[in-house]
Amino acid sequence: MNSLSCELVGAKELRLALQDGLNPDQIRVLRAPCMGRCDTAPVLELGHKHIDHATMDKVQTAVANGDTHAEIPPFQDLAAYCEGDGYKTLTKLRTSGNWQAVQDQILASGLRGLGGAGFPSGKKWGFVRDNAGPRYLAVNGDEGEPGTFKDRFYLEREPHVFLEGMLIAAWAVEAETCFIYMRDEYPAVLEILRREIAALEAAGLVAPGYIDLRRGAGAYICGEESAMIESIEGKRGMPRHRPPFVAQVGIFGRPTLVHNVETLYWVARICREGPDVLAAVEKNGRKGLRSYSVSGRVAAPGVYLLPAGSTITDIIAAAGGMAAGHRFKAYQPGGPSSGLLPASMDDIPLDFDTLQPHGSFIGSAAVVVLSDQDRARDAALNMLRFFEDESCGQCTPCRVGCEKAVKLMQADHWDQPLLEEICQAMADASICGLGQAAPNPIRMTMAHFPDEV
Ligand SMILES: Cc1cc2nc3c(=O)[nH]c(=O)nc-3n(C[C@H](O)[C@H](O)[C@H](O)COP(=O)(O)O)c2cc1C
Ligand code: SF4
Repeated sequence: MNSLSCELVGAKELRLALQDGLNPDQIRVLRAPCMGRCDTAPVLELGHKHIDHATMDKVQTAVANGDTHAEIPPFQDLAAYCEGDGYKTLTKLRTSGNWQAVQDQILASGLRGLGGAGFPSGKKWGFVRDNAGPRYLAVNGDEGEPGTFKDRFYLEREPHVFLEGMLIAAWAVEAETCFIYMRDEYPAVLEILRREIAALEAAGLVAPGYIDLRRGAGAYICGEESAMIESIEGKRGMPRHRPPFVAQVGIFGRPTLVHNVETLYWVARICREGPDVLAAVEKNGRKGLRSYSVSGRVAAPGVYLLPAGSTITDIIAAAGGMAAGHRFKAYQPGGPSSGLLPASMDDIPLDFDTLQPHGSFIGSAAVVVLSDQDRARDAALNMLRFFEDESCGQCTPCRVGCEKAVKLMQADHWDQPLLEEICQAMADASICGLGQAAPNPIRMTMAHFPDEV
């Protein structure tokens, strides 16, 4: 794969090694963006098999034998979940609950949308309910921001915590159907959800068909909520103009509550454990917890649940320190849309609202760590190539701006005034967050790594 975490650690070499071991008449190896497995980068995907250096031989044998099924990791199934207090909260709410009391709990916890925009979750429920039914709920499981793999982490381990949170939110807004939009790059997650939704139906916890599992087709832009809704409706995924907002006019014109997978995971935990599960955690003046997806030049890449006030220093420490032989140089604080910061700025809490003064934002909390062996300009070019590939092409500033920026960024000396002009046009005039945030890596590289450009 060719996104930042994979490129840093030798995806190209793995691709070539794989090509060597396969019959080119039978299998073509194509480049693709992030597969959401940055913790085991570099990663390739063959059929439904994920390949990294450790599994290369095993996978080549499996493919030669025609076995391309996904491997299902051990996870907590319905029976195991119900042995604890699983679905007791939902059942109680359905019989005697007051949705406003639940909304108050969500607001008191401080939960904000974990898909990237950080909108206070409880407030959204009220907006959706303000519009007459029928209403829908849509789960955003697209997880396409390179470096992000926290949703997969939770779904491959505790799918029912998320499913119970989804059903609580659906109950709160009286949703007629729950659509789950899940990226096809997660075949194991899709299989787990298929099995566990069937188990919920068999147990009578949901009516057959109430949960509609949809597969995405690999477009990053389909993670933008209105583009996701277009895709759910069977159309090409392109962002809509707002207003109206999807809370008013969503799927098939109906009011729709859209939530990220992890947001719903926390809805279930807040309802069961109380708002303090988030509100009581405090660090550096910030409240709550963040699931940081950490990859790049750290010793132990993975998802780390840490206080929301954590700095990059805390995050690198949690990930086992820097990889052997690497010295910390720079970091991507929250996906390519958040750009790059230098190691000298290591005391900023990586949370909502703290990065804006630095021209960045936390987004999906996808942290990629760069070392003295990497160049910031190469990382920024990698990010812009991703945006160029993934731009839906609907508006000129984004479509043409990404393409021109990629060309200019390949020169030894960047034409900085021209790049800044392009950045301004993209930030001002793009329809959606992709084109508006794509200038961040360019601007931050020019600001913090001037000697490289
Ligand atoms: C280009 C772009 C890509 C996005 N990709 C995702 C995604 O993969 N998953 C996600 O949950 N939100 C994504 N979002 C944010 C969604 O539009 C939306 O804010 C979110 O799904 C709302 O859920 P939340 O309030 O629970 O975070 C993306 C936004 C933009 C602009
Ligand atoms: S900003 Fe880019 S991705 Fe968003 S609508 Fe415009 S062309 Fe499409």
